[in-house]
Amino acid sequence: MTVRVGIIGCGGIANGKHMPALSQVKEVEMVAFCDLIVERAEEAKAKYGDESAKVYTDYKEMLTDSTLDVVHVCTPNSSHSELTIAALESDCHVMCEKPMAKTSEEARTMIEAANRTGKKLTIGYQNRFRTDSRYLHDVCADGELGNIYFGKAHAVRRRAVPTWGVFLDEEAQGGGPLIDIGTHALDLTLWMMDNYKPKFVVGKAYHELSQTENAANAWGPWDPSKFTVEDSAFGYIVMENGASIFLESSWALNSLDVKEAKTSLYGSKGGADMDNGLTINGENRGLLYEKQIELETGGVDFYDGATQTPELLEAHSWIQAILNDTEPVVKPEQALVVTEILEALYESSNTGKPVYIKGE
Ligand SMILES: NC(=O)c1ccc[n+]([C@@H]2O[C@H](COP(=O)([O-])OP(=O)(O)OC[C@H]3O[C@@H](n4cnc5c(N)ncnc54)[C@H](O)[C@@H]3O)[C@@H](O)[C@H]2O)c1
Repeated sequence: MTVRVGIIGCGGIANGKHMPALSQVKEVEMVAFCDLIVERAEEAKAKYGDESAKVYTDYKEMLTDSTLDVVHVCTPNSSHSELTIAALESDCHVMCEKPMAKTSEEARTMIEAANRTGKKLTIGYQNRFRTDSRYLHDVCADGELGNIYFGKAHAVRRRAVPTWGVFLDEEAQGGGPLIDIGTHALDLTLWMMDNYKPKFVVGKAYHELSQTENAANAWGPWDPSKFTVEDSAFGYIVMENGASIFLESSWALNSLDVKEAKTSLYGSKGGADMDNGLTINGENRGLLYEKQIELETGGVDFYDGATQTPELLEAHSWIQAILNDTEPVVKPEQALVVTEILEALYESSNTGKPVYIKGE
């Protein structure tokens, strides 16, 4: 069976992840490419579509094509909810990029639309498909760490502010590193802890290094006057069962301790961190141990191993969920909880008070 996919937003992530990955899934045909900038949609068609593929600048026009099965939403955060709901209502399954939406209200309406239409919805948290993440998830699910009562979600860069597109624009994105990369780290941490019941959060966002002129940066200096989102944000999340999570996120921080899309876990039977590969630690027969997990298959150019990038696994797994009518790995209800927590952290930063998620 062929799955006919349309892409909305043919920019960085569509070219860096979605289209190259989908082009390797044998059941997929990319038949529609939409971008406000027509050249981007045309380039995408030239690279990933065939002669009959269509190019659009208006997503509504694209969604009138009743032969589309799946839509990937790869536009800035402010349009995720509108585009996702429109695609679901046009009878398409949707993979929407992270973060799910700018606000939890928008995220909830996306889930309502998926339930109403009976279509599948997933969010692009590809870090779950990394070898270390999948291994650690199995370790946690098997209870090897015991009760995981504390976690750390790491999303810290020293100087890597995304200066293209609208990443620095509060209106378009809803926030800076917290919503952009903190979202990946928090998703991983909640998934490992299998705990989606936050009680309250307290956090603080900073606009410090964003105001530096001619700053050192992986993608060139930023314009401080256009940097309207935070440059760093930190938070503490307390869950209903008493477990807690420290979340650190930054695009620019004077720190040598940088790590992104990583989690550290602390349980009653053992701990784990993703610092240098994957390490599991604990105590056995009165002594402490440290176990380094080798993430490479090692030594042999193993065909499957060589091609199993997280991006490919994400695309394969998503298309298989559609073909087999199973639940996608990233459930929208889980992504909603990530959105609720991030939104509450911003609110806590603005009000200077802890924020109770269920409005206590
Ligand atoms: N999963 C990841 O690790 C990851 C990495 C980078 C970006 N992202 C997410 O992907 C999304 C896009 O980021 P990007 O880096 O690709 O940005 P980008 O600016 O490179 O690309 C976005 C594209 O969408 C187009 N666009 C905007 N509004 C549109 C609309 N209404 N209809 C059609 N096209 C529209 C723009 O013209 C642009 O070409 C963001 O939500 C971002 O958070 C995810």
